[in-house]
Amino acid sequence: MIEKTLSIIKPDGVRKNIIGEVIKRFEANGLKVAAAKMKHLSLKEAQGFYAVHSARPFFSSLCEFMTSGPVLLMVLKGEGAIAKNRELMGATDPAKAAPGTIRKDFADSIESNIAHGSDAPETAAFEIGYFFSGLEIFE
Ligand code: CMP
Repeated sequence: MIEKTLSIIKPDGVRKNIIGEVIKRFEANGLKVAAAKMKHLSLKEAQGFYAVHSARPFFSSLCEFMTSGPVLLMVLKGEGAIAKNRELMGATDPAKAAPGTIRKDFADSIESNIAHGSDAPETAAFEIGYFFSGLEIFE
């Protein structure tokens, strides 16, 4: 099934100058960039995006990290895009990520883990709508 998913290259990925490397992996694996914009999230924007994690002990640190510099927001589109994106990123904790994945290759910690990807169709719909209007997504 052709799906859309939200991808974020987090502030650490932007700082490490690997935007192109990450997008190259998506494109080489059948995902298309259907929308993209760079943004420096406000604290409120980060808190709203990660609201589902608001009770977790890492929430405030996560929001601080996500507002520490600009991010690249993208909508990726393709066959099984949600699972494909997560497979390419690898496990949340880079120490547990499979060899050859984005997080294994580039991430420093479970928090500074380079990229975010929606984890299910419902979250993808929420997350894409949180950052993009329909007019900004190219079909
Ligand atoms: P992400 O896939 O964007 O979803 C939630 C984020 O919270 C996750 O990537 C990490 O950046 C962060 N995170 C998840 N689990 C932990 C944890 N145990 N400790 C610190 N940060 C975490």
